[in-house]
Amino acid sequence: MKNRDTFSSKIGIVAASAGSAIGLGNIWKFPYMAGKNGGSAFIIIYLIAIILMGYPLVYTEFAMGRRAKTNAVDTFGIIGNKKTWNIVGFIAVLTVFLISTFYMMITGWVIYYFYHSLTGTLYNLSSATDSVMHFKAIFSHMSSSMSIPLIFSMIAIYMTALINSMGIKEGVEKYSKIMMPVLFVLFIFLIGYSATLPGFSKSMHFLFRPDFRLVTPQVIIGAIGQAFFSLSLGMGALITYGSYIAKTENIRQIARQVTLADTIIALFSGLLIFPAVFTYNLEPTAGPSLIFISLPQVFLKMPGGRWFSLLFFLLVIVAAITSMVSMLEILITYVIEKRNWSRKTSTWMVVIATTLGGAVNIAGEGPLSYITVGGRTIFSWLDYLTNNITIPLVAVLTAIIAGWVWQTTRLNKELEIGAASSTKLDHYFNLLLKWVIPPVIVILMIALLLGAES
Ligand code: TRP
Repeated sequence: MKNRDTFSSKIGIVAASAGSAIGLGNIWKFPYMAGKNGGSAFIIIYLIAIILMGYPLVYTEFAMGRRAKTNAVDTFGIIGNKKTWNIVGFIAVLTVFLISTFYMMITGWVIYYFYHSLTGTLYNLSSATDSVMHFKAIFSHMSSSMSIPLIFSMIAIYMTALINSMGIKEGVEKYSKIMMPVLFVLFIFLIGYSATLPGFSKSMHFLFRPDFRLVTPQVIIGAIGQAFFSLSLGMGALITYGSYIAKTENIRQIARQVTLADTIIALFSGLLIFPAVFTYNLEPTAGPSLIFISLPQVFLKMPGGRWFSLLFFLLVIVAAITSMVSMLEILITYVIEKRNWSRKTSTWMVVIATTLGGAVNIAGEGPLSYITVGGRTIFSWLDYLTNNITIPLVAVLTAIIAGWVWQTTRLNKELEIGAASSTKLDHYFNLLLKWVIPPVIVILMIALLLGAES
């Protein structure tokens, strides 16, 4: 095989992996999931899932990738020592493809909102119009159209592909190292402003005072699914990045930093969004349109809101693009190694496929939105199926293959390369991988299939 590229620095790996993890999942999805599922009870389950299931899977995926040094599909066959395991990798890669088709649509929506914050047209309403109606109209005008989301999501995917086409070191690593600090600065600035709003303390209550009566199997699997989605687990993302990590790096340490950064940004996104929502008496349960309909009303009312809006949507764009870079990288690495095409060719092939898939999603929200199955559009189905079925399935099989087939002794050996020897605590995390993650996920998936409908 040709020489594989590698990340050149630890900071680059952390930036790229945190860039993968921190995305729409943190800023757009986490707040509305928490809002819909009762706030703090959901958040507590989410945090438990992150620590007990997310973190061990993060370092496991990295270790599997570095060990196998190949694309996400073949990694499973190598680690499991049987080619049939490749099917798990295939489900992972298929999942990421499906996710990328709606992820690009939403990123397109965000770019549209950024653009209209910039020109001011987003906030151009006559004093007679009701602001709720105004933003609902803008959102439905955008999402029911075919051309607007398509154009804007193509901008998103081309920006992403340009980065991927330059390779791991010169593209992914280099741009992540620029974009992640920008993201953090924007974030801190926006949070600082949000903390001055009168609704801040109310949202602290909402986020951090649990009501466990609201917990159902659906809420639990929703929280676990969200934890995995947010950490980019169960999709071959960290396996792919792991395959570009040098043997001199300490994987556990990298995994800790990435997990921590992702969790902080998710929690802080809640703190960024809910004070505004409560200050202006909006519903925290608004769902996917939370940042597109509720938040702009807030921006409209608050002093300096237009600037806040501009920076907020810029923040979301930066977060989404670094995640899309990692999604495309999974697909590109796979295509390069399966077809033996150059990185450039592979990148553009992936872009074409994703754009076509994106167009299907966009049509499903727009001109074809009357076609629903069980009340769900295509996007809503893809989101539901990946989050509740394929991601947990791949996660469970990853835990089984790494913990039982490859076995934790070999996993540990890989983890100890580039690190000091493992501690007692590390040992307990491996036990989680073997004994806790598989049964918990399987039980929850069964509970879900038996009818705990969302
Ligand atoms: N983790 C990303 C987020 O929180 C989304 C994501 C899901 C992702 N699956 C992925 C990113 C696969 C990269 C690769 O928004």
